[in-house]
Amino acid sequence: MNAGILGTGHSYPEGILTNADLEKIVETSDDWITTRTGIKQRRKAAPGEYTSQFAVRASQEAIERAGIDAGDIDLILCATVTPDQILPSTACLIQAQLGAHKAAAMDIVAACSGFVYGVTIANPMIRAGQIKYALVIGAELLTRYVDYTDRATCVLFGDGAGAAVLGPVEDGRGILAARIRSDGRYEEQLFAPGGGTKGGFTAETIARGDHFFKMKGNEVFKVAVRSMSDISKQVLCEAGLKTEDVNLFIPHQANQRITEAVANMLKVDPALVYSNIAQTGNTSSASIPICLDECVESGRVKKDDVILMASFGGGFTWGGVVMRW
Ligand code: UT7
Repeated sequence: MNAGILGTGHSYPEGILTNADLEKIVETSDDWITTRTGIKQRRKAAPGEYTSQFAVRASQEAIERAGIDAGDIDLILCATVTPDQILPSTACLIQAQLGAHKAAAMDIVAACSGFVYGVTIANPMIRAGQIKYALVIGAELLTRYVDYTDRATCVLFGDGAGAAVLGPVEDGRGILAARIRSDGRYEEQLFAPGGGTKGGFTAETIARGDHFFKMKGNEVFKVAVRSMSDISKQVLCEAGLKTEDVNLFIPHQANQRITEAVANMLKVDPALVYSNIAQTGNTSSASIPICLDECVESGRVKKDDVILMASFGGGFTWGGVVMRW
């Protein structure tokens, strides 16, 4: 018995922040953002909205499409670095809103790789028969942790949530290989030092903006391309597949130039690479499940298609999953 994705869903806030809006906030231009990142707009939650609201909407869609009830779910993994609150986990808050009372629920903090981490963790539990259905979510309100005086980061990030219900599928289908990796030595390349026990959470740290994301974009770029390419090759090899077998490649949407560089290194036909970054920006852990659901909704995913997903994020963390739909 394999584990596979039975249903997907996604949800965005209605608010839109365009490049033209950002031109009025920091010294940037639509031309710079478009050329260097591929982003034209990103979604931005309104004051009073919070992460689990979007996660719940995405999850309800995924549960309905999987044809199960919330009460059937055994495990909820919510990947997020922008939780509703410190305690309890956003996964527990989602559980309560869904009425998934049988489930165990916890958050995964693996930045942009969180959804791939969640799928990789749930996969062997389903295969072993330890659980039947897992709900894996990527949900972020990154705009709450963006410093709108830092043009190097504020143009990149957006809000949204994506979800997938995983469950048993017949042999030869579903997840064929999944790998996750991390390297904590790169902490200061992409981080938010405030708000924890080390950096503290005081009027001073807030005034300094320690809770905002900080990134050495150039450095992250290089490692992201290398790591996503390497892990993609590894999972394809473990699944006994070649790049030519891939029908759809969904990379984490960090930067259109990263997507193109990874596709180029893997020699994946650009027509098989999915990208929605122009409309969404970088939504961290939500990016891959949102893309997957958009592909399902538009009919781009067909039965028997081989789908490759690859992610990279702060930590550093990275991961790859290959599955047969
Ligand atoms: O999702 C998790 C992982 N995240 C990523 O993978 C992100 C990886 N990094 C990137 O996507 C890119 O490095 C960025 C989009 C963040 C930056 O693009 P870049 O081509 O690496 O630009 P850069 O940092 O080398 O900066 C080039 C120039 C600099 O000016 P000078 O020093 O050459 O005069 C920056 O100050 O562009 C300037 N710059 C901007 N100019 C206009 C940086 N941000 C902006 C901006 N508007 N928003």
